[in-house]
Amino acid sequence: MKSSSVIRLAQVSDLHFGEPTYNPSQFFSKRWLGNLNLLFSRKRDFCHERLLPLIDLLRSHEVDYLAVTGDFSVTAQEREFEQAAELFSHFSRAGIKVLAIPGNHDQYTGSAYKKQLFYRYFPPVFDERARVNLRDHKVTAMQLANGFWIVGLDTARSTSLISSQGVFSEEIETELEKVLSEIPSHDKIILLNHFPFFQNDPPNKQLVRAKALRALITRHPNIVLYLHGHTHRQTLADLRPNQLPILSDTGSSVEKDSSAFHLFHLDNKGVQIDLYQWEGGWTQTNKRQFKWNG
Ligand SMILES: [Fe+2]
Ligand SMILES: [Fe+2]
Repeated sequence: MKSSSVIRLAQVSDLHFGEPTYNPSQFFSKRWLGNLNLLFSRKRDFCHERLLPLIDLLRSHEVDYLAVTGDFSVTAQEREFEQAAELFSHFSRAGIKVLAIPGNHDQYTGSAYKKQLFYRYFPPVFDERARVNLRDHKVTAMQLANGFWIVGLDTARSTSLISSQGVFSEEIETELEKVLSEIPSHDKIILLNHFPFFQNDPPNKQLVRAKALRALITRHPNIVLYLHGHTHRQTLADLRPNQLPILSDTGSSVEKDSSAFHLFHLDNKGVQIDLYQWEGGWTQTNKRQFKWNG
């Protein structure tokens, strides 16, 4: 835990590491659909090499944490997770702690979900001392510094062929309430979840019980930031006039025409959020400052 008054945290999302597989057994799972997508669209559109220069950039800004808001893979295959884990090992070695939560693509098939394969490559806790973990309880928490916490959710599920839904189940809601009750109410919380809590996409892409998540967040005004992915659209929105947090979605950080990441500087007064986009190199395109209420 840091004692210094400024926390620097970056967010990337929806990296979709993957290579098409030709294994015929895929036709017995949902994987063939993901591979078809990859062959005909995704592979062309993703530039993973843009992630490596981020290491030096984040180090130069003294960033301590990198939140990855899900969809590391295309079809939750071991070699996709291996590629992602290899990349993030470079961040870890550079002293940047990676805080990973899975997206729907990381629980893509029934088999990957049953084995909870994602957690063989990424730890289910942000802090070894955490009472609850993402794999078994679908929630975990870590204190970032005095007065600041980060809470991760795993709402990803293996789904049917035509669905990329997530589920904020009643069990997850109970665990999350319990975790939040253990955090002093005047401490500020950053919540990570792959799915947005607004339903702007077709029903087969939505988070089931998003309304319940939204209601829970409204009951806990110390949740000041909600970091998500899934939409592949860059968004930053201050929803505090509606009793909701500041929303951040980087969109896909590796998509050819819209790669982006966000950099947060938090202290006791507020948060500055720097928006970066890839324009032949990582370029800061906007900067927003928000004061904490009260
Ligand atoms: Fe995605
Ligand atoms: Fe997703």
